[in-house]
Amino acid sequence: MRFYLTTAIDYVNSRPHLGTAYEKITADVIARYKRLSGVETHFLMGNDEHSQNVYKRALERGVDPRVYCDQMEEEFRTVWKQLDISFDDFIRTTEPRHKAAVQKLAQRCFDKGDIYEGQYEGWYCVSCEAFKQEKDLVDGKCPLHPMLTPEWIREKNYFFRLSKYRDALLEHFRAHPDFLRPDNRRNEMLRLLESGLEDISVSRAGQLWGIPLPFAPENVVYVWFDALINYAAAVGYATDAARFETWWPADLHIVGKDITRFHTIVWPAMLMSAGLALPAQVFGHGWVNFGGQRMSKSLGTSLDPSDVAERFGPDPLRLYLVKEISYGGDGDFTWERYEERYNVDLANNLGNLVSRLAAMAEKYRGSRLSPAGSGGRLAQVGNTALTRYRASMDAFALHDGVAAAYQIVDAANAFIAETAPWTLAKTPGDAGRLDEVLFEVAEAVRVAAVLLRPVMPASSAEILRRVGETTAPEALRLDRDGRWRAEGARQIAKGAPLWPRVEGGPEGPPLRPNVEAGLLPPRVEGGPEGPPLRPNVEAGLLPPRVEGGPEGPPPRPNVEAGLQTRPTKEIIVDEKPSGTTPAEDSRISIDDFMKVDLRVAKVLEAEAIPKSKKLVKLKVDTGSDQRTIVAGIAEAYQPEQLVGRTVVIVANLQPAKLMGVESNGMVLAASPDGGKPTLVGFDEALAPGTRVR
Ligand code: MSP
Repeated sequence: MRFYLTTAIDYVNSRPHLGTAYEKITADVIARYKRLSGVETHFLMGNDEHSQNVYKRALERGVDPRVYCDQMEEEFRTVWKQLDISFDDFIRTTEPRHKAAVQKLAQRCFDKGDIYEGQYEGWYCVSCEAFKQEKDLVDGKCPLHPMLTPEWIREKNYFFRLSKYRDALLEHFRAHPDFLRPDNRRNEMLRLLESGLEDISVSRAGQLWGIPLPFAPENVVYVWFDALINYAAAVGYATDAARFETWWPADLHIVGKDITRFHTIVWPAMLMSAGLALPAQVFGHGWVNFGGQRMSKSLGTSLDPSDVAERFGPDPLRLYLVKEISYGGDGDFTWERYEERYNVDLANNLGNLVSRLAAMAEKYRGSRLSPAGSGGRLAQVGNTALTRYRASMDAFALHDGVAAAYQIVDAANAFIAETAPWTLAKTPGDAGRLDEVLFEVAEAVRVAAVLLRPVMPASSAEILRRVGETTAPEALRLDRDGRWRAEGARQIAKGAPLWPRVEGGPEGPPLRPNVEAGLLPPRVEGGPEGPPLRPNVEAGLLPPRVEGGPEGPPPRPNVEAGLQTRPTKEIIVDEKPSGTTPAEDSRISIDDFMKVDLRVAKVLEAEAIPKSKKLVKLKVDTGSDQRTIVAGIAEAYQPEQLVGRTVVIVANLQPAKLMGVESNGMVLAASPDGGKPTLVGFDEALAPGTRVR
């Protein structure tokens, strides 16, 4: 059995944000679930490079678009690696294999008489890379990009006869009720089909960035017609017939709700025209918002997944996104909610269970547990949960699959409370019962960890190691390893807490608490192999400790770091997408803002920190004292350029140790996407100690 799944390919005009990362994480969960189920799986991701926005961004940066795309590929791959995304192939639309496929498919549609020349006149939204009808605009603006004015385009274009395929598409939807999931998206597309289709433009005239149409090379292929073909190109269409035969058609395209129309109407029609088989299924997931606002780079309301993964590691983030958002619907991320779920689901619940088991196994049985009995109440819970897990995961109800695994975790915690092993241990006559209880808990933890493998791969592997599972994580199979085992002695290993609870207030544990538990590699400082440093964390631009007690303001890293240059208020007033509620609760009061003591300071001394590419140690005069601050600006400034310079600092930040140096405050800098930090400065000379507000 084979399974070929894909995600949307991302525009590379900016780094991934938490929304685009959500898609990749959920697709990764499906890919890992398929592999766990013993299915030969091919998981494709990639980058969509022929967008006008990508071209413009490269020119703004003064680099060749190809060089820019190479750099962005690195950035994307680094983030995907950090999030433990296990793709098998990564395609870029500037690759020769893609160009060959686009030209072949376009030629076939042309030969079939489905592409014809015409005149296009109308609106175009560059951010959507889509032609817009008058009725789609709100006050003359694209509702998704209200800050931009759509362009009026009048050009000779080639059109694809989409209208011709309307009946065949309707028929396909009717004959394959599962073609588009979830149901609400299917209904939406059916309504669209029923209302009729118009032909679409598939070329852009006079542009250099793109793939030339084979039959009219002075035109480039329209970016969407180009991008959709990646799914076929990656598995050998036009370049490797045997491979194409093996993997096509795709089993599942995972895409966001905004682009289901392209995937379930335009793409199938293109395939029909070219005489190729249609993908079996498309899943249109919902949006992840940030504090109630639509996440968007252009709106300045996006959240960098690396910043989130930095806090507790990738697995807590993966768990949050999968467990908290019903797959197919919309969801929301806030730092407060994230920390709350971390404490509840990981620190208190699963982490505590693993620790208690190890402690009791060691104390009462020298860490070796022998099988006793055929399994009691927990065994039943385990088997019921496995059935529920399978049904949920097969139906892409990923949140419910995780809930099934947590059913076992909850039951095991309750079982410990009820059976009170510490009491059994006091009575020699209860020794047999104690054996049963401990073995059963160990087995429950093992089964839960197998079920959690797709969602939290590294954590699952660590838990399995601690409960004595000897099968390598990649070799685990749900059929064999997800079932309750009443046999086999277990050697239980103790270890550092997997997810120490984070408390509000200054005593809270530092960031990345699970390094010690073996779930995260120790931070690599600027080494060529490691993930890139997140300068705003290193520089103390993000709070180095997890705060978030009921009194403290929620950590809003981008705002506090000055990385979000556009005022939040403006976003809410001007750029609210229709139908959404402004995120009142994500705004801070003036009192909250005034808690931040921003001051002018003068740099007295600056020196590089050995073994760190990003960090520099500064001695600054704050007007009232001289202190050391470690800043993540070494890539942009030489130490000697900094001495004598006026900077803005947060003066009342708790001290934090960075690379062994205690930093007392942070220096404000703007961090453009993918670029180097630029220090905040003034037009006029100002005395150290002057308040900034
Ligand atoms: N390049 C096109 C896709 C071409 S596929 C042949 C594109 N790129 S994108 O970078 O704008 O978006 C990539 C994916 O991320 C899309 O599926 C999109 O729906 C999804 N998301 C973008 N923002 C999102 C959220 N805030 N939340 C969840 N998914 C989001 O569209």
